[in-house]
Amino acid sequence: MCGIVGFIGKGNAVAAVLDGLETLEYRGYDSAGTAFFSNGGIEVVKTKGRVADLREKLPEGISSELAIGHTRWATHGAPNDVNAHPHASADGSIVLVHNGIIDNFAELRLSLGDCKFKSETDSEVVAHLIASVYTGNLLAAVEAVLPRLDGTYALCVMSKDNPERMVCARKGSPLAIGVADEAIVVGSDAVPILPHTNKVVFLDDGQVAVCDKTGLTVRENGKVIENNITEIDWSAEAAQKGGYKHFMLKEIYEQPQGLTDLVHQRILLPKNGEPVLNMSGIDIDDEYFRGVSRIVLVAQGTAYHAGMVGRNLIERTAVIPSYAEYAADFHYRDPILDPSVLVIAITQSGETMDTLQAVRSAREKGCKVISVVNTVGSTIARESDGVFYMHCGPEIGVASTKAFTAMIASLYILSLHMAQVRGTIDEHELRRRSQDLLQVGPRVEAVLATANYIRQIAMRYVNAGNFLFLGRGTGWPLAMEGALKLKEVSYIHAEGYDAAEMKHGPIALIDENMPCLFIALKGRRYDKVISNIQEVKARGGKVIAIASHDDDAIHELADDVIYIRAESGIMNSIVCAVPLQLLAYYIADTRGCDVDKPKNLAKSVTVE
Ligand code: F6R
Repeated sequence: MCGIVGFIGKGNAVAAVLDGLETLEYRGYDSAGTAFFSNGGIEVVKTKGRVADLREKLPEGISSELAIGHTRWATHGAPNDVNAHPHASADGSIVLVHNGIIDNFAELRLSLGDCKFKSETDSEVVAHLIASVYTGNLLAAVEAVLPRLDGTYALCVMSKDNPERMVCARKGSPLAIGVADEAIVVGSDAVPILPHTNKVVFLDDGQVAVCDKTGLTVRENGKVIENNITEIDWSAEAAQKGGYKHFMLKEIYEQPQGLTDLVHQRILLPKNGEPVLNMSGIDIDDEYFRGVSRIVLVAQGTAYHAGMVGRNLIERTAVIPSYAEYAADFHYRDPILDPSVLVIAITQSGETMDTLQAVRSAREKGCKVISVVNTVGSTIARESDGVFYMHCGPEIGVASTKAFTAMIASLYILSLHMAQVRGTIDEHELRRRSQDLLQVGPRVEAVLATANYIRQIAMRYVNAGNFLFLGRGTGWPLAMEGALKLKEVSYIHAEGYDAAEMKHGPIALIDENMPCLFIALKGRRYDKVISNIQEVKARGGKVIAIASHDDDAIHELADDVIYIRAESGIMNSIVCAVPLQLLAYYIADTRGCDVDKPKNLAKSVTVE
């Protein structure tokens, strides 16, 4: 949460910072600000609102070769001009932007005696502290203050005396530093760096970076260490809207290609011989998988819903007892773990604090951790024993879409690998499932071809006040995901339930004002779902059904039917997610909601 950008080098630093902040707005968009050199001093311009509002406040013709910037997701203090970053020391000698939470800020404020604070933020105290020990050497002052800070931070600091240097530090909040030919570019993630370079250093906790016009120096424990450069394979264009009205819509439409690439990179089907699964990133020997006694899938939000589907996949194919749980609860509970328990962390950003904490506690207890991650070089990827990269490109829309389906596909491949190693699947079945998965792209494409029809259905529910999403089996996590998508982008109250649970309480809510969306694909639980639909209809409820393409009977029951070509159990979950995403998108867009930046949300939740 909160986006940080810094630029030092040849070129217009303020323009680079503003462009970078715009690409990072998905991390927070309560307020925005920048600081740069002007007329021999530092000028700070900040405002409540978005980067577009900040642009309007900035004077024309700024030409600084060093600038820092911030887009905020408020934690301490209301979103207003004063609390917006950057923050400066009382004498204006030190100016900084911060992402994270300084837990002991109140105590540190007291330690500064009469010092005058302008904002209510926890961040401002860091600027005052650095100024209080600053004698002309910014690096020394930052390094002197860091041990006093409890909590988390990604910091980017500049000093009035030195337009040739900024100093960055990281503990618990991500920070990436791009090394371009004639500039150093800092970002909360790699996205704002990509227009300048794809060579990125991801700072580790405890590291400090000195960014000079002449280059980058990374330090740890007061000593210079080698720059560990990762080459990012995302293009700058991938982080643009590319003609779509919203990132969310673009990312929904990217799914056929993204999924096709993912499965074709991972599954090789020789004409003769067993399918070969490419498990690059998971350098864990087969013997380990044979000894796994239990699997816990940890994640938050949409990723947790993918984990719920993943648990079914693993139990069915690899026959290992598994369950999915919220990473935050896993971390704070005392789960019973031993080294035979495998923990799978699922995360698009690779930075979600709750998930990261779960990874750390699992490893402390001797478990191996495999992460399913999208963002290359992210903290969770680096802290896991094995990483399965989804490689589905940057996801900018705050509501996760393409990452969800890529997570399910990745978990499917991982479960097939474990099944193959453990001998719980024969060659014929592995081939059948692999062939099936290789068809995922065209199947999703077929759903997108009906987008206009889904849009027409969406129009009928634009004014709903509440919604229930119901499904059984893997339809249950999909129902939860459908409800989450709708509520986060359209602000319609929606709940996702196991349809079996309906008669244990939610049925009390059913009347003509409560639309119920059922995942009603043919399969083991189909008849039960149909009974649930009948129960809703008997109470006057409106029903939208997502049904199998050959289900002619369901029209008699449901008010609206979205047909999908669904043929094989697990893959249905991927295909079925797409109409849910489109429905939420169209309803939200018609209601005039800011689809890519829903209120109060941020893309990457790096605080607990
Ligand atoms: C919902 C959404 C969130 C994230 C959750 C975990 O659309 O995007 O619920 O899924 O914050 O994020 P990652 O996957 O980055 O760990």
